[in-house]
Amino acid sequence: MRLLKRGRLLLLLKLTVVLGSLWMLSLLNNLKIGWDPAYILKYSWLEYKDAGPEKVCNCSAILRGEREALEEAKLLTITKDFRKSVHIPDEYYINATQDCTKFKLSRKYLTIPLSQEEEDFPLAYSIVAHHKVQNFERLLRAIYAPQNIYCIHVDNKSDASVFSAIKAITSCFPNTFMVSKAVNVVYAAWPRVQADLNCMADLYNSSTKWKYFINLCGQDFPLKTNLEIVRILSSMRGGNSLESEKLPEGKKWRVTNAHHIVNGKIQGTGKAKDPPPFNLPILAGNAYIVVNRGYVRSVLEDKRIQALIEWSKDTYSPDEFLWATIQRIPGVPGSTWPNSKFDMTDINAIARLVKWQWHEGSEGSLEAVYPECHGNHVRSICVYGAGDLQWLLEQHHLFANKFDTDSDPIAVYCLEKYLRQKALAEMH
Ligand SMILES: *[C@@H]1O[C@H](CO)[C@@H](O)[C@H](O)[C@H]1NC(C)=O
Ligand SMILES: *[C@@H]1O[C@H](CO)[C@@H](O)[C@H](O)[C@H]1NC(C)=O
Ligand SMILES: *[C@@H]1O[C@H](CO)[C@@H](O)[C@H](O)[C@H]1NC(C)=O
Ligand SMILES: *[C@@H]1O[C@H](CO)[C@@H](O)[C@H](O)[C@H]1NC(C)=O
Repeated sequence: MRLLKRGRLLLLLKLTVVLGSLWMLSLLNNLKIGWDPAYILKYSWLEYKDAGPEKVCNCSAILRGEREALEEAKLLTITKDFRKSVHIPDEYYINATQDCTKFKLSRKYLTIPLSQEEEDFPLAYSIVAHHKVQNFERLLRAIYAPQNIYCIHVDNKSDASVFSAIKAITSCFPNTFMVSKAVNVVYAAWPRVQADLNCMADLYNSSTKWKYFINLCGQDFPLKTNLEIVRILSSMRGGNSLESEKLPEGKKWRVTNAHHIVNGKIQGTGKAKDPPPFNLPILAGNAYIVVNRGYVRSVLEDKRIQALIEWSKDTYSPDEFLWATIQRIPGVPGSTWPNSKFDMTDINAIARLVKWQWHEGSEGSLEAVYPECHGNHVRSICVYGAGDLQWLLEQHHLFANKFDTDSDPIAVYCLEKYLRQKALAEMH
């Protein structure tokens, strides 16, 4: 009986190869046929090989940092026609998602878990986006797996076409959704944190019993496959990984003076703030974290953290201290003690790799933290170029910021292609 079933399954799978139809595979998956490595197919049609005008680039040479290939890539990226030809407009997404099956197939979304190990370790993502839909969609496609869950916060004041396109994309997947409450994000002010908090609450309340929470913005990109992320996170044994260090003297004003939002900008009120509740030590970090489910539960339920959140609402850039401070509160799952021996820098944490202009330099220099940016800078942050990829892939971080298909489409193309190939190869 079982043999017969398997024979028929094999026949079906062969048919699937012939049709190249993902739909059939997801149907098989829905029939709850168990995972069996004997039936692993060559999922070669899921590689991104027939992609657009970028295909003239030699990504393997680029990933090895070969100068000639990088120079060719650079010449292409500075060509206006090329940049225009790789741009995907919002309207494309709004139209193409009217037929979700076709959209997922043509964009090569993975619709089945690639391994039991990944299926048993679901992740929750909060993604904050406000423009550049193409970057968002390339990111979603790179991290998408059917067992994970994705909450998307689109800034309440984004263009209507951005909102419509992202909403249309999320409506194609059962496990991606728009946040229940979208806020107006104001740079360096409380609403940026509220956006993540709203997604945290929605994710925590979902039926998926995810194990880790990761927050991203639309211009991040993964440096690891989902399987690699799962393995790294399971090896952390419930720990969290985020920047959390001593608050520099020069930043103390941010939490000792009250602020408010005036005409969409944050301003000081001129009033001093009370010290933090329970005299919690305030630590410095950044907006991007990798934390376990218990950390998120504490954020939503712990009375000390509720008080800290209320206290933080009129501070400057609470995203750069709130998560770091919670990470050192006793009793928070995966936290570490407040003692400075447990301080963690952004370089040692795995959450996010960002190249700040003033930390760039050559190896051996005492000031330098990383090599120079091969792309361009936006507000002192490196927007990676193809020439940064080799170095990026050597780092332990799960994600890097910033990428932009409008400034270097080849960097994104070669990275996504590499990750997909790797994910498919990991199945064998
Ligand atoms: C791409 O670069 C690799 C590594 O240098 C080289 O082996 C390969 O032949 C190149 N492929 C093409 C199509 O030029
Ligand atoms: C809209 O999508 C349909 C089907 O997905 C496609 O056939 C059609 O060409 C698209 N139209 C435009 C204007 O892109
Ligand atoms: C969202 O924007 C609309 C107007 O575009 C405004 O009326 C509403 O108050 C905003 N909501 C929030 C939560 O900021
Ligand atoms: C949690 O989800 C349920 C429906 O599944 C809903 O009724 C409830 O209001 C949600 N709770 C919160 C806190 O969002």
